[in-house]
Amino acid sequence: MSIVFHPEAQEFHLFNDQVSCVLEVMANGHIGNLYYGKRIADVPSFAYLHEDRDRPLTAINAPWPSAFSLNYLRQDYPAFGTTDYRYPAYKIRRENGSEIMDFKYVSHSISAGKPSMAPLPATYVEHDSAADSLAIELFDAVTATRLILHYTMFADLPVLARHTEFIQEGEESLCLEQAMSLNLDLPDADYEWVHLYGAWARERHIRVSPLAEGLQSIYSMRGTSSAEHNPFIALKRPAADETSGEVIAASLVYSGNFLGQVEVSTDRETRLQLGIHPNNFRWNLAKGNSFVTPEAVLVYSDQGLGGMSHAFHDLWNNYLVRGEYKNTPRPILLNNWEATFMNFTEADILRIASKTAEAGAELFVLDDGWFGKRDDDFAGLGDWKVNLKKLPNGIKGLSEKVEAMGMKFGLWIEPEMVNEDSDLFREHPDYVLTDPERFASPSRHQYILDFSRKEVVDNIHAQVSAVIRDAKISYIKWDMNRYLSEVYSRGTDAGQQGEVLHRYILGVYDLYDRLTTEFPDILFESCSSGGARFDPGLLYYAPQAWCSDDTDAAERMRIQYGTSLVYPNSSIGAHVSAVPNDQVGRTTPLQTRANVAFFGAFGYELDLNHLPADEFAAVKEQIVFYKEWREVCQFGTFHRLINPFGGNDMAWISVAKDQKRAILGYYQILGLPNPRLLRVYPRGLCQDAVYEVRNQASGAVLRLPGSVIEHAGLPIDRDLLRELGGDFASLLLTFTEVD
Ligand code: DGJ
Repeated sequence: MSIVFHPEAQEFHLFNDQVSCVLEVMANGHIGNLYYGKRIADVPSFAYLHEDRDRPLTAINAPWPSAFSLNYLRQDYPAFGTTDYRYPAYKIRRENGSEIMDFKYVSHSISAGKPSMAPLPATYVEHDSAADSLAIELFDAVTATRLILHYTMFADLPVLARHTEFIQEGEESLCLEQAMSLNLDLPDADYEWVHLYGAWARERHIRVSPLAEGLQSIYSMRGTSSAEHNPFIALKRPAADETSGEVIAASLVYSGNFLGQVEVSTDRETRLQLGIHPNNFRWNLAKGNSFVTPEAVLVYSDQGLGGMSHAFHDLWNNYLVRGEYKNTPRPILLNNWEATFMNFTEADILRIASKTAEAGAELFVLDDGWFGKRDDDFAGLGDWKVNLKKLPNGIKGLSEKVEAMGMKFGLWIEPEMVNEDSDLFREHPDYVLTDPERFASPSRHQYILDFSRKEVVDNIHAQVSAVIRDAKISYIKWDMNRYLSEVYSRGTDAGQQGEVLHRYILGVYDLYDRLTTEFPDILFESCSSGGARFDPGLLYYAPQAWCSDDTDAAERMRIQYGTSLVYPNSSIGAHVSAVPNDQVGRTTPLQTRANVAFFGAFGYELDLNHLPADEFAAVKEQIVFYKEWREVCQFGTFHRLINPFGGNDMAWISVAKDQKRAILGYYQILGLPNPRLLRVYPRGLCQDAVYEVRNQASGAVLRLPGSVIEHAGLPIDRDLLRELGGDFASLLLTFTEVD
């Protein structure tokens, strides 16, 4: 891996074994992009890739006879208001109203390792040898503003991390109105674009669409990354599939508003951008102020979407997640939410916990309803004191009893919210994020605390940390159950209201940082009405996220399949719940519910006391089985084999990094009459090794070399599926290398 500067050509080549990025200092001092893609050899100059042409209707950015026009040049961080008519990467408004800026190259520095982006979450390296970083400094002489473009190339992954820093050194007060984290100009538009869309209970479904001239975008203006879109966008060659073809993908390490867009010019060049959504964003760049964009990571794959996912999974697991649970199997938990909702007593909880312990689970999680006057969702949020009517021995007493059963204890919180019926609201009504002259729109009868203000974060921190300190808590589920509206901070000057949305997210990160620092052994799981804030920003603090409130196995197939495009199984909270399913009313077999949830951070979400004896015995077996296989399920290399979107089947396989073991899930949606024969073609096995392939449902065993399994495939036993009930039946195949 290396970052090379060629002084004569004024070019930078950032590369590792897999990917190259070539940047140039252009004649006008701006940074141009000459190449991004598969690793290429380093040569003294790539200047032949700089394509200047004098063309009709083009304004020229230099005195005649130059043909230098930004409109046709591929740039790294394009400016607004001069000769480029495409969407800019940033916009700054000066005191005189002008929006024209001209940042010119001044210097650069290359260093080993990766600088921290605190207080923003970002990828990191533990050793300098794992990455090299480049900072290119530019300066606008008229306003005396500095712009620093930051790049980090990882040594062992096809990943380039990017962010940008604006520093105002001049006297003028500037207003930063837009600052994307990433801009990538590409020389053609022969791509399809891929993104994850959804809604509550059907998050992260995959959408692949052709690219059209003009703009196509995904975004969130909901104050969080949202269930509707995920801060991820990819360009794939039309022929690219799961295993082959070029894919260029970007993901934003951020949990708030974002915009991801692809612009195709009439000359069919492509501009990809990702960053904070400019709507309702204005940052004051008065003298001495600065702004750092969140980090965007760019992944290159010439092995299709599968290669892209492997790069993301390894990046998040190795260079984003921190703490004790980094690359560590996650505890098997039972969460009481769907078992009791808010209606419980200590005796109810202990009864459920005791059965959970008998089943062999490792962690019992008490969800919503344990604090304040929280008997329904009209009251209690903001008052993080145990409700002694429900839990007379407090969280301390309950957690000790759960630990005495041989399990760890976990607790739900929703720290960013307040109910009108709460002591916190009565004492500090101004803590709510709203315009006091307007109607404050409730959602689930709750309001948003103004986390852009430090005193609000301090208050919640004091309350929550006191609860944690007092009890034996090993896990926290941090929920967030509404989107932001009427965003106005009563603790912020009029001129800084455009900063509030970003400062809110910084407040969330601040509280996460304080709690994870103070309680480093606690496993955090993020949640937002299911998976409405499932993003890399939060994975930095919380290594797993509740994937969706939809626990129906058939729906979960699509949700988890889509989520796996970007996120590893270790991060995907997945539980077996009761049937008929609470969200869709569907009944699926217990084994299929587990077979889907196994490919995630596995757990249960029901009262095991309500299961008939044979099903409880099956749960015990599932837990024994999962303990043996969870490391492969959660941290193996994950291959999507059969796509469930639009089809009746789905299959995926997770292969241990050393390829000695693997586990495959095959799922059928509906049982079909006279079904056609079907083979599944596993991937990722060692070609020469011989594996024992065990069908967990029938006990049938085959012994075959990896090459045979992968290329000749494995027939799916349709008769067995029929015996298993047909509709929503599933099979698990395990692969163990034998000598
Ligand atoms: C929404 C979450 O997604 C659920 O799992 C549960 O924790 C509820 N909130 C509690 O209010």
